[in-house]
Amino acid sequence: MNILVTGCAGMIGSYLTSHLLKLFPKNDGNKIIGIDNLSRGKLSNLKEACGNDFEDLIFVNGNLSLFDYSWAKYFQNIDIVIHLADIVAGIGYVFSNESYVFRTNLLINSNISKAIFEYKPKRYIYVGTACSFPRNLQLSTNSRPLVEDDQFPAAPESGYGWSKLMGEIEAGYLSKEGITDSVVLSLHNVYGKYCDYAKETSQVIPSLCLKAIECSKENKNLVVWGNGNQGRAFVHAEDVVNAIILSFEKGANEGVIQIGPNKCTKINEIANLLIEKIDMNIKLEYDLSKPVGDIGRSANFNKAKNSIGWVPKVTIEEGISDLIEWLKFKVIDIF
Ligand SMILES: NC(=O)c1ccc[n+]([C@@H]2O[C@H](COP(=O)([O-])OP(=O)(O)OC[C@H]3O[C@@H](n4cnc5c(N)ncnc54)[C@H](O)[C@@H]3O)[C@@H](O)[C@H]2O)c1
Repeated sequence: MNILVTGCAGMIGSYLTSHLLKLFPKNDGNKIIGIDNLSRGKLSNLKEACGNDFEDLIFVNGNLSLFDYSWAKYFQNIDIVIHLADIVAGIGYVFSNESYVFRTNLLINSNISKAIFEYKPKRYIYVGTACSFPRNLQLSTNSRPLVEDDQFPAAPESGYGWSKLMGEIEAGYLSKEGITDSVVLSLHNVYGKYCDYAKETSQVIPSLCLKAIECSKENKNLVVWGNGNQGRAFVHAEDVVNAIILSFEKGANEGVIQIGPNKCTKINEIANLLIEKIDMNIKLEYDLSKPVGDIGRSANFNKAKNSIGWVPKVTIEEGISDLIEWLKFKVIDIF
């Protein structure tokens, strides 16, 4: 098996690459190639995730927003391309940089499509996002779980959601024209280790975890954006990797498949879980001036279950405990 992963040094990429190196060992004639420009991902995280297997990875430092054969040539003789590289960040960053995020993601996704068009891998796995679903279906934490048919008529809230939707459409055209078999997985809110925890760009779970560790050390209140009643369907990166690997054999040319639980977890629930796990003395404080994004969403994952055999397995308690331990160790230097 020859497999190419874009965005291999990111959060999902680090988990995925480590699994692929184990499942398809180099000694059995397999080849795993990872491309990343390390703009958000870190080689140290990828190395940590892969351990000794890292030596078997062919790592390419390439900027996918510029089409260039220095990276595109690696698409030759590839069986499966898994495309994870895109600009993704917390809502503070996404809503303040919409034109950049939109433009860059269109460029990256189109360049990947061009490489696929040229080298015709057997399968193309594209990851979309629940942010591409219409805003009006995400106005309450009691909104009914989204189904795939809800995507159109399209009305995503952010430039990020629109850009990722365009990538889905392009993947669909590659399938329609018989260039490759495309699988489109629409991921809900993913969390796990190997994530970006920088204050400006981190996503909600690592951001709150880091703040809670800081509050515990400095005896401060934990500040939540908005009133904390906004919620998301959080899915652990290990569950996402499982969905990607299941789609090596199934799910092609079937349109979008949602990957996420049917439960909407409020940010207040996450904050209280962190207090319980880190320090019961931490008090909550609300900053109503900050953006909160969509108010609530969850996934009806029946299509994922029927088409690729996927169900979520990692509980939010397990996933968060694991992340806290990782972050505590990472941030020793910060505090
Ligand atoms: N994290 C989530 O909650 C979530 C939810 C839905 C969908 N997704 C999608 O999953 C994918 C992976 O997300 P993630 O959370 O692992 O993000 P991440 O930022 O950790 O990983 C993305 C990787 O892409 C790399 N990258 C960015 N621009 C690049 C470029 N021009 N050239 C080469 N590499 C580049 C980054 O350095 C990073 O390592 C993204 O496509 C994202 O849209 C993520």
